[in-house]
Amino acid sequence: MAMKKLLLLLKPFAVSPQPSQTHPQVLHFLNNRNKVHHDSINFCQEILQKKSVEWKAVHRNDLTQPINDVDLVVTIGGDGTLLQASHFIDDKIPVLGVNSDPTRIDEVEKFSGEFDATRSTGHLCAATVENFEQVLDGILEGRIAPSELTRVMISVNAQRLSTYALNDILVAHPCPASLSRFSFRITKEGQPCSPPVNCRSSGLRVSTAAGSTAAMLSAGGFPMPILSRDLQYMVREPISPTAVSDSMHGLIKHDEKMNATWTCRKGVIYIDGSHINYTIQDGDIIEISSKAPSLNVFLPHYLLQLGKM
Ligand SMILES: *[C@@H]1O[C@H](CO)[C@@H](O)[C@H](O)[C@H]1NC(C)=O
Ligand SMILES: *[C@@H]1O[C@H](CO)[C@@H](O)[C@H](O)[C@H]1NC(C)=O
Repeated sequence: MAMKKLLLLLKPFAVSPQPSQTHPQVLHFLNNRNKVHHDSINFCQEILQKKSVEWKAVHRNDLTQPINDVDLVVTIGGDGTLLQASHFIDDKIPVLGVNSDPTRIDEVEKFSGEFDATRSTGHLCAATVENFEQVLDGILEGRIAPSELTRVMISVNAQRLSTYALNDILVAHPCPASLSRFSFRITKEGQPCSPPVNCRSSGLRVSTAAGSTAAMLSAGGFPMPILSRDLQYMVREPISPTAVSDSMHGLIKHDEKMNATWTCRKGVIYIDGSHINYTIQDGDIIEISSKAPSLNVFLPHYLLQLGKM
């Protein structure tokens, strides 16, 4: 299929900090982040002008409706921009992430004693300004194919939530200091394939392969091959005696589901961060699976290579 219409989704510019309250070195660094992002947007737009495609640019925060009628979405920012865009994209429109300001390890090390000099993380971004034209040509000429990333589908009391998670979901009490109570079991074709587990903890996290190197890894989970269709779950800070059981961390295979019952008065399901959330209550049944439409992403080579190891 020839690609004719492109949508460019831009990360918004950061609000400048108060000069009087910020160390001059940090202020200089932050202002430079906006400049580099700005230059990257201009650079990509100039390249698009040269191609025989129609395109328009939209700020990612102005997105409110599912994206239709385009052949390709290009996000310019980092993983956060791609993640936010993913909530508006089904499995028909492929996405290319451009990291507009990649983190430089040498710089982070140089300033490690002074401030956090990370720029933008672009784990899922196949392009930077360095190779944007080359990658874009590969896509427009059909030489590069997107990969299907698994997403999480959630239903509450048999009602599907409209947003699919690309990275992870967290089910927890809205107050971080409060206990979460729930039980869960893994099912396959409607039949239980594990005994029910009752637990008191800080909640439940479920990640995709794409999200397994984010919060799941920080919490002690393992990285999964990027194209895996399984999900990884982990009960957060379980309270003994069930804590010793190995059922607190494991996989929900692609043909399985997790059936969880929330048994606490208050609860929230957070999807890919804190901005998308659904309130749940005592007795709600939450079904979690990888049955969501995939997200088709042009991935960086090295990520696909890792998956083959
Ligand atoms: C999920 O759990 C609830 C409550 O234990 C139960 O009523 C329901 O039948 C379960 N669904 C499946 C598919 O196991
Ligand atoms: C849920 O999301 C809204 C909108 O992004 C946010 O304002 C609110 O604080 C979130 N709620 C919780 C409990 O985190």
